[in-house]
Amino acid sequence: MARPEIAVVGSANLDLVVEVARIPVAGETVLGGDLRRIPGGKGANQAVAASRLGRRVAMIGRVGNDEAGAMLRAAIDSAGVDTTCLLTTQETPSGTALIAVGADGDNAIVVSPGANSRVTSADVEGAADDLAAAEVVLLGLEVPVEAAAAAARCARGTVVLNPAPAPAAVLPPELLDRVDVIVPNQTELATMARHAGLSPIGEVDPETAVALARGLPVAAAVVTLGAAGAMVVTPAEATHVPAPAVVPVDTTAAGDAFCGALADALVDGADLVEAAEWAVRVGTAATLRHGAQPSLPTRAEVEHRLHT
Ligand code: RIB
Repeated sequence: MARPEIAVVGSANLDLVVEVARIPVAGETVLGGDLRRIPGGKGANQAVAASRLGRRVAMIGRVGNDEAGAMLRAAIDSAGVDTTCLLTTQETPSGTALIAVGADGDNAIVVSPGANSRVTSADVEGAADDLAAAEVVLLGLEVPVEAAAAAARCARGTVVLNPAPAPAAVLPPELLDRVDVIVPNQTELATMARHAGLSPIGEVDPETAVALARGLPVAAAVVTLGAAGAMVVTPAEATHVPAPAVVPVDTTAAGDAFCGALADALVDGADLVEAAEWAVRVGTAATLRHGAQPSLPTRAEVEHRLHT
């Protein structure tokens, strides 16, 4: 396969999804619908999202030597993503995500990383040629931070970090120094801001997001704001990109669709605001279908879904 335009270093998970009327609080049991098994994982979702939009994409990560791993690999392959550097771990099960989706489309997710936690710097360095060739390298944190840092070292193009899930500790400078654009949601931004010695008070609204993002040691941030769209923050300006109004059915992987689309637009030479405008549309379109990878739209489906 020709060298990728986009390389993704991240997770692949089997999503075990149950729809519920309401997401339970701690200590509560709720009854839900039938269990569904759906290919997911933030990294795989981002890779599939960019591929559906027409990009040449390579996925770097690990799955287990089990039925879930075979299913995940097949789903990523069939989306046209190069899985040469998606390795198989013998002794550890594939990553699994337990997902409750509420009637309002919102979700709560618990991830057992499994094989994703076994991705090493050496695995990533084995994909050095793809990482060096890619115009955009997308990194996530459902794989070890050392693996993300190794990928950042190999990258020659634009490095985009989606710090999801929110990091438990301060990210190493060797990673952050090489990140061109960070794409946190409000929770991830608040966590990273605390690590940076800032203290967010209450909800991170768009104005707070600008102040917090400017306090992070990164060149630029695109903060995802759910139904409110996104905020593009550079040292020079802050631009709010609103989202089209829709009634979501499932927000799972909307952030991943956003990251895949942002990378797609950056490959096209878009500036960060233009890229965020496209990413907001693709992310919103993904909320109109159920499931992680099944919800990710092609270019034509984005407009069709948003206009029907
Ligand atoms: O962002 C959604 C994804 O988060 C799910 O597919 C799940 O696997 C977790 O990684």
